Amino acid sequence: MTAPLIDPFARAIDYLRVSVTDRCDFRCVYCMSEDMTFLPKKDLLTLEELDRMCSTFVNMGVKKLRITGGEPLVRRNIMTFFNSMTRHLESGALSELTLTTNGSQLHRYADDLYAAGVRRVNISLDTLDDEKFAKITRWGRLANVIRGIDAAQKAGIRVKINAVALKGFNESELFTITEWCAERDMDLTWIEVMPMGDLGNEDRLDQYWALSDLRKKLAEQYTLTELTERTGGPARYMRLEESGQKMGFITPLTHNFCESCNRVRLTCTGELYMCLGQEDVADLRAPLRASESNEVLENAIRKAIALKPKGHDFDYSRQQVDGQMTRHMSHTGG
Ligand code: GTP
Ligand code: 5AD
Ligand code: SF4
Repeated sequence: MTAPLIDPFARAIDYLRVSVTDRCDFRCVYCMSEDMTFLPKKDLLTLEELDRMCSTFVNMGVKKLRITGGEPLVRRNIMTFFNSMTRHLESGALSELTLTTNGSQLHRYADDLYAAGVRRVNISLDTLDDEKFAKITRWGRLANVIRGIDAAQKAGIRVKINAVALKGFNESELFTITEWCAERDMDLTWIEVMPMGDLGNEDRLDQYWALSDLRKKLAEQYTLTELTERTGGPARYMRLEESGQKMGFITPLTHNFCESCNRVRLTCTGELYMCLGQEDVADLRAPLRASESNEVLENAIRKAIALKPKGHDFDYSRQQVDGQMTRHMSHTGG
């Protein structure tokens, strides 16, 4: 093990999110445009390179690895990569190997993921209505996702649902989604919609449903108790006393959580983004390919971490969208 990664604000970086592909079989309206141009396959890191990259980070103190995309499970032979990461769980270097997925392919992979050591998965799902689901994801089918959730639970993987809070879209489903998660013993986290991607006809301000407002509504039916527990992600948790369930809140807009940021993001082409909401980026592919030994890569990683900014600048408070990023969420994996 080398010295741990510490950024300029004394934050220890021990969480790496890895986007293994920019492609996806959905086109969620707040994430992608309908006619996305994807990266040529030749620009992607190979699965062996992804292994070397992640293993280097693990050797530098990364404890939590989250695989994202695009949709990570559409990358060809992705299980080869998961299987190669299992050794870091077995050695104890890594405490968690997990993924964020849209669930569409999960029924095919759930057992293999469990065998590779995945014990928890985050699934994005914003509505329980078939038609609304088709509308928000453009290309998705709710039944496939439910099938994936069933398979994951059957395999013994704990499921957390991520729902983006969208005004006039899933506001009316707050209680149905909450109850559905409780019945199935799944955690639920709500996320404030962030100004990412080319907005086109989309208006984030119109879509934005502040979680402070959602909480007030929830408190009409539930007694909420703030929890101190953390998963190493940005969510803050509450317990709903009546159902006993746990609910997470990710509030980049109403309550900035950047001061406790512990993560960086690797894209499928080997760029390291230091913050979801800033442009600061370092190329790690060239250093990786420059030498067979990892020294050049380690130096590049340290140099990059030294540039990690304090936080994002997303802001809707002046009734306009500030801090917007033209980069799509699928590029850095959320
Ligand atoms: P847990 O391990 O379950 O806590 O996961 P997590 O919340 O770290 O991961 P997940 O993939 O479920 O993240 C949910 C969403 O939170 C992401 O897709 C982003 O939308 C948002 N998010 C995660 N990290 C950051 C961050 O550093 N900044 C901002 N603004 N949003 C973030
Ligand atoms: N704002 C907030 N969350 C988003 N996601 C994608 N785009 C946005 C956005 N603009 C979420 C997805 C998924 C995760 C990877 O990021 O719903 O849960
Ligand atoms: Fe695909 Fe996830 Fe983006 Fe939806 S939010 S288009 S599922 S990457």
